[in-house]
Amino acid sequence: MSKLFSAIKIRDLEIKNRLWVSPMCMYSCENQVGVVGDWHLVHLGARAICGAGLVMSEATGINPEGRISPWCPGIWNSEQVEAWSRITKFISASGSVPAIQLAHAGRKGSTFRAWSGSGSVPLDQGGWETYSASAKTFEGYQAPRELELSELSVLIADFKAAARNALDAGFEVIEIHAAHGYLLHQFLSPLSNERTDEYGGSLENRARLLLEVVRAVREEIGNTPLLVRFSATDYIPGGWDQEQTNQVAAWAFEAGADLFDISSGGLVAGAKIPTGPGYQVPLSESVHQASSAPTSAVGQITDAAQAEAVLQSGDVEVVMMGRQLLRDPYFPLRAAHELGDEVSWPVQYERGKWPTA
Ligand SMILES: Cc1cc2nc3c(=O)[nH]c(=O)nc-3n(C[C@H](O)[C@H](O)[C@H](O)COP(=O)(O)O)c2cc1C
Repeated sequence: MSKLFSAIKIRDLEIKNRLWVSPMCMYSCENQVGVVGDWHLVHLGARAICGAGLVMSEATGINPEGRISPWCPGIWNSEQVEAWSRITKFISASGSVPAIQLAHAGRKGSTFRAWSGSGSVPLDQGGWETYSASAKTFEGYQAPRELELSELSVLIADFKAAARNALDAGFEVIEIHAAHGYLLHQFLSPLSNERTDEYGGSLENRARLLLEVVRAVREEIGNTPLLVRFSATDYIPGGWDQEQTNQVAAWAFEAGADLFDISSGGLVAGAKIPTGPGYQVPLSESVHQASSAPTSAVGQITDAAQAEAVLQSGDVEVVMMGRQLLRDPYFPLRAAHELGDEVSWPVQYERGKWPTA
């Protein structure tokens, strides 16, 4: 049996394999009130029936301003919870695990989706005023205002309430999005955080909001597995980097996180990112080595043998895939066949199983 298709246990939850669907924005809540619909059911459902061990939702706003665009989903009200429930039921019934990425976009919110425009959506077209750690603009977007100290407890409460809603909606794993230049990353990085209060300056202070969110969410979700996605580096001298990620991951592990999902970049437009096959694997390995927490790797992992080799290195426990699963939702079934593993297919698809008669 390959490691890719062997089960993994996080707290009390057993997940059937280590090939997971990475969160991917669909910008497809046409209602613009954050309620998921048929697109999300078919998109996420297809990947669940095709053998991924865990299917992660796209970045989902913890409050209205937490969305990246007016077309992004939310999990702050009961209508959204009900809509998500239909999807989580389908994912669970397919033998996969429904997971949600809880997110706040901060200064990278209120933007157009690629096929509707570019830059910030004006207020009279459904956009909103953004806020961030400091009043520092992301290139090409509107200027955010700096969050007041008194507003931070409201944000933490919003994360906590969103986590409760996620459980009510049937999600079995929760991920906090602290990567890709979104709000929690805006607090972590010295390039976007110029605060002079206890949430800015030293690493302890910049990490404070994230750690408070982790503790608050853990308190709310009991024994449910909790992941944190980090960008391990801003790829800019003087910015957020691997060493800081490793330290904050160790603190977050103590605070109640279970696994770190390691990505990179996104804080600064135009940063030079050295992409290539598996380019973020060493970043994930480093977090595991420093924090001793289990980690996942993502980024240009596209075939079965490559994914298995990443896991066999011993420092990464899970592989997430994004674009490969957009190209080919059936990839997990194909990968199992290539690695010689016997995995169950949906009964409806059994007649398509290799070897063909
Ligand atoms: C269409 C699309 C949407 C994405 N949306 C998100 C998102 O909502 N949250 C997130 O953390 N990453 C997002 N990502 C990044 C992916 O999760 C993944 O980390 C990245 O694509 C690299 O993996 P890959 O090479 O397997 O695609 C998105 C990527 C794509 C292609």
